[in-house]
Parts: sequence; C-alpha cells; structure tokens
Amino acid sequence: MGKGRSEKGTQHKDLATKAVTELTDTEADIELGRLIGEIARHDRLYYAHDNPEISDAEYDKLRHRSKEIQRAFPQLPLGDLPELRVGAAPAVGFAKVRHRVPMLSLDNAFDDEDITDFVARIRRFLKLSDSDALAFTAEPKIDGLSISLRYEQGELVEAATRGDGAEGENVTANVMTIKAIPHRLKGRDVPDVFEVRGEIYMRHADFAALNAAQEKAGGKIFANPRNAAAGSLRQLDSKVTASRRLAFFAYGWGEASDLPADTQSGVVAAFSNWGLPTNPKMELCDGADALLDYYRRLGEKRAGLGYDIDGVVYKVNRLDLQERLGFVSRAPRWALAHKFPAEQATTILRDIEIQVGRTGALTPVAKLEPVTVGGVVVSNATLHNEDEIVRKDVRIGDTVVVQRAGDVIPQIVRVVEEKRPAHAKAYVFPDVCPVCGSHAVREADEKTGERDAVRRCTGGLICAAQRVERLKHFVSRNAFDIEGLGEKSVQEFYDAGLIAVPPDIFTLAGRNPGFDPPIEKREGWGAQSVKKLFAAIEARRSIALDRFIFALGIRHVGETTARMLARAYGSAEALKAAMVAAQDHESEAYQDLGNIDGIGQVVADAVVEFFAEPHNVEVIDQLLAHVSPQPLAAVATSSPVAGKTVVFTGTLVRLTRSEAKAQAERLGAKVAGSVSKKTDYVVAGAEAGSKLKKASELGVAVLSEDEWIALIGA
Ligand code: IVH
Repeated sequence: MGKGRSEKGTQHKDLATKAVTELTDTEADIELGRLIGEIARHDRLYYAHDNPEISDAEYDKLRHRSKEIQRAFPQLPLGDLPELRVGAAPAVGFAKVRHRVPMLSLDNAFDDEDITDFVARIRRFLKLSDSDALAFTAEPKIDGLSISLRYEQGELVEAATRGDGAEGENVTANVMTIKAIPHRLKGRDVPDVFEVRGEIYMRHADFAALNAAQEKAGGKIFANPRNAAAGSLRQLDSKVTASRRLAFFAYGWGEASDLPADTQSGVVAAFSNWGLPTNPKMELCDGADALLDYYRRLGEKRAGLGYDIDGVVYKVNRLDLQERLGFVSRAPRWALAHKFPAEQATTILRDIEIQVGRTGALTPVAKLEPVTVGGVVVSNATLHNEDEIVRKDVRIGDTVVVQRAGDVIPQIVRVVEEKRPAHAKAYVFPDVCPVCGSHAVREADEKTGERDAVRRCTGGLICAAQRVERLKHFVSRNAFDIEGLGEKSVQEFYDAGLIAVPPDIFTLAGRNPGFDPPIEKREGWGAQSVKKLFAAIEARRSIALDRFIFALGIRHVGETTARMLARAYGSAEALKAAMVAAQDHESEAYQDLGNIDGIGQVVADAVVEFFAEPHNVEVIDQLLAHVSPQPLAAVATSSPVAGKTVVFTGTLVRLTRSEAKAQAERLGAKVAGSVSKKTDYVVAGAEAGSKLKKASELGVAVLSEDEWIALIGA
C-alpha cells in the first residue's frame, strides 16, 4: 500500500466485506462513499492514465456493490456516481466537447454466417430484389482510438476524442502536433464545416522505439500500440504528444455542411485529395462472398501491415441507402465490424520471473522463447498470479500457446501437454520477495476465508520496488508532512541516491556537505530553500504518535486505525513490543489487538505481519533514533471513567455509537469491541444481545444509556 489516498480506501475494509443487507444506515453511507471514491479513482487510472490497476471484473464488482447499496438505502444521496464505462468518459484535465453528431460504435460479427445475415438483413430492409446491386466498402478496422477533427473553412479548429460517444475531450493542442493530420485541408471543394472522423494509432516500429526509450528513461512501458497511442494523445503537456509518432487514417465524418460525394468510397477519395491519410487497403465489394473473400485476404496480410488491426469494417457504399438504413441504438444498421480471432502462436516457456509492483504485488511473468504473434515479437507473457500457474499447470520447459487479444498483454492460453519434456519443472512460487528478501504473504478475505490471489511483499519500507512510493507516503500531508519535501523532491532525492528509506531523511543535513553536488547546488534549489528544508525536517523530530504510525504505510492502516493504535498502545516502543508478541496468535497481545474497537481481523493481521518482518522493525528502530513520537494529546484523567474499559452494545438513542465512543475516549476511557474480564462497564442500548449476556456471565457492570450519561455527567 502506498499513498494516503489509497490508504483511505482501505480504512473501512471491515465494511467492504460486509453483506449489504447487514449494513446500518451510517455504514451504508460510509461504504457508498468509499465505493464512489474507488470507482472514480479506477476511472481515472483507466481513462486518464491508461493504466488500470484492477481487472474489469473487479471493477464491475465495485459498481455492482454500489448499485446494491443504492437500491437497499434509497435515502442516501447518490453522490457523483460516474456513468458506466462505455467507451471512455472524459479524463480529468481536458475540457469537454459535446459532439454535434454523436460518435457511434459498430456491431461486431465473428463468423461467416453473421456476414451473410448482415447482407440479407440490409437487402430485406431496403426491399431490394435479387437483381439489384448492393455495394459495400471493406476496410481494415484500425486498433487505435477514434477522433473527430473539425475543419472550418478548411482550417483545423478543434479535435475531440470519442469519450462516451456524446461527449469527448478537447485534445486540439495535442492533435496539432501530429504530423499526419493536416492543419489545413487542400483543394477548392472543401465544405465550410466538415468534421473528419478517423483513427489515431501507432505503428509497430514507432511503438517498439517508444517503449525502448521509455525503458531507458525509467518511464512507463506501454502494453500495446493502442495504449501507447491513447497515452500519447491524452497528455496534458502537448510537447510529450509531439515527441511520440502518431499516425492517422480518416474513414468517416460527423457534422458536414456539404458532402463531396454520394458514396462512402467517394467521400474517402475526397479525403485523400484534401490531404488526409486514408487506408490504401479499402476495396469495394458487392455481396457477402466478396466481403468474406476480402476478410480472408486481409487476414493473411495482417501480420505484415506494420500496425494493429482487429478486424474488417464493412459499410454500405451508397450514402442515400445509409440514410435509409439509419441506426439501431448506438450502431449504424449499414455497417458492421468483422473481428479477427485473437492471434495465437506456440512457443517454449523458458522461465518464470517475479516482478514486484510499486504496491508490493508479486506478479509472475513467463519468459518465452521469442515468437511472432500478429507481427509483434513476444518474449514475455503475464501469468497473473500463483493460482493461475497451478490452474494452467504451467511448468518451466513447457510448450505453450500464447495469445495477443486486442488490447491486453500477451497471455498464456494453455500448455501443449503432448510436448511436455521429461525435465519440465513445476514452478514453486516464492514466499519471499525477490527484490528485498522480505516475506511475501497472501491475505485472507475476512468473509470468505479465501486467500487473496495476490501475494504481497511485506517489506514495504525497505523494498526497492516500493521504496519511492513509501517515501512519498511517509512525507505526505497526513503523515510527516515535511515542508519542502513533496513527492517531486522525494523522487529527485531518491533518484540521486540521497535517500532510500525514511530514516535517511533525518540524516540528510549531516550528509549534505559530502554530496556532489550538495543539495543547494542542485537545479531548483538554493541555500535558502535548503536551509528551510532542513529546518522543516528538524521540526519533525517530534511528531504525534498517530502520524508516526500512519507514516509507516502498514497495509490497511489509514489515519483512523493509526489513531486507534496510538491511543491503545501509547508509545511506539509499546506498540512494537506488543506486535512482536502478537505474532503468537494465542498470545494475550494478539487478543488485545483484536479487542480494540474498530480493528478487525484483516487489519490486525496486517499490522502483526508488518512487525513480523525484521526489515521493518529495523527501519523503525533506526527511525526512533532520530524521531520521538509523542503520545496523543493528554486525555482527561480526572473523569469518573478515566482508565476504564467500556463496551457499547445494542442501539443507543441519545448518542450515535461513534459519538459515544469519541466522548468516552475524550474522558480517558478505553473503548473495546468485545467483553472480557478486563471490561469495566458494558453500556447496553436496546436489543443488546450476546455482549450483554457475556457481561452478566463475567459479572461486569451493565449500564443503560441514561445511567452511562449520568455517570459521565454529560
Ligand atoms: S466506422 C458509425 N471504420 O471501431 C461508425 N470505425 O468498434 C463509425 N474503427 O469507434 C465507425 N477502424 O474507433 C470505422 N475503418 C474503420 C475503423 C473504425 C477502427 C473503430 C472506431 C469505432 C470502433 C467501433
């Protein structure tokens, strides 16, 4: 787990696993808020960064749960639940553009019969007799992203992505940098207003060069040319777009004050005359057989085209017939996309390597004997996770079928078992992180008890794969909040080798004179700013204990949980000692941890796991040599409940549960989640159940809500 932002998302982990039917109104409110936040975050990752973190199936689960809550708790405010993911909603950072003529999608077809049906359907709709000709254009379906280019008086004035079809992003500045797209259309027959539509894509050669450069610069590696094209176009800095070689084919139009021809092929020919790139492989075909023949011929040439295509698009050629045919829902009746099957090839799996992501996830990657799949050389394929390797029974030395399917990284489809050599070795998934040697664990889902598919490194603070993220989290606003040491400077200092783990921050000033160059001589720094930075670091040698705990970046420990831990243990040393003791799940220390109200099994295990990793404890010890965490602001000691342990149960009337809890804590009481010998009072509201029973069994004092209020004198 990295930053504060995502920590917040996991704070309510207990709620996240609770069945919707069991949520209280308040819990539903909190949980819906969390879901909406998560959905928005994943939308941003998906649309704005072209870098999804979760699978579509996981994303759908989030959506499904939010819908369920909305249905069960109709009184809750809806919030800004974003529209369903259709196409792509506008990314943050770009102005929106409403398409004057919507940008539609195409119906998909996969086999020959779909094509004969398509042609027959159109003939029937148009009431054509057998002798009436019906011509179609057939052209490659480019695997890129569609764009609408508005030309007024022949000048390019606006460029917009498809977005959700109704509204896209204004990417004019970026499109202006694409050499393949003319700023001015040639010729005298250009209509006053004309929106050209087509596909922006990246050629294989440019894609390979871009990824090579990215790798060298430590930048983002793109999974495929489509992602690279999308990522390059949706850059807030158009200089970046300009540096990427994007290509373009024009194949359609939106608003047009006039049309240059009365057929599809005629308009596309005019595009070419106007100076727009069009696909040279477009052909006219009359009838299903001719379309299928085109499809086969193009399929054979596919690997040699130099760019990705994922099928063929057929369109009725005559525009008057297109008009008569019109649209069904979001796709034209006069066009069809005939998709190619995913491309496959057979090769040998040489090895399995583990990559550690920035959040500590261990991902197995198959190292393959390089093989060409659809014109692209593939030497790596994802195996997703440990279970997947077992499920597919993939062994090192196996012959495997690899597939590139549209916009995903190559996958292993299956093992060719007949070809398994005698020496093929089953793969043993490591339980230590290959980067830092810390142990790597799979969490258990609290509800189902099932193990998480992902194994994670627990050495977040020291693991080189995660260190930068952890450092950024460490200095973030709700953690150490060191002025002058934001994400950018952390990255800079990390890259320069000045800091690797949090304790390094506190030795920075002392080491600075030995740096070459010292920080004040680095670009963007000066004597003044360095002095300020060191003073800000100095000021943080004393820090509130809860911030200290939050800063450690323990999985599932957000600010609230950090505060609970700080309150319960009082000092970093006590927390450390208790968590080390709690590694024995039979110990009292472990039970005490689970007894803290608001700390569930998943959180408790995550904390214990963190302290079980000696690397982490080492870093904490080093930190404590520089930093003195301060116990939480002193709470009342003179109140009648100071030092007492209280359990609230049942429905309270005069206070909400969280108000009651906060109030008790302010008065110095400890609020526990379950009743034990150590409990001093059980405050029982209406319909109190098992806890009340337990209290009477143990002889613990039971108070009504009114009695409690009287006791604390509120
Ligand atoms: S025509 C009204 N022609 O495919 C239909 N689309 O699945 C307009 N695409 O959003 C689309 N190559 O991004 C058309 N030669 C081609 C295409 C093509 C790629 C994309 C386009 C569209 C998507 C629909």
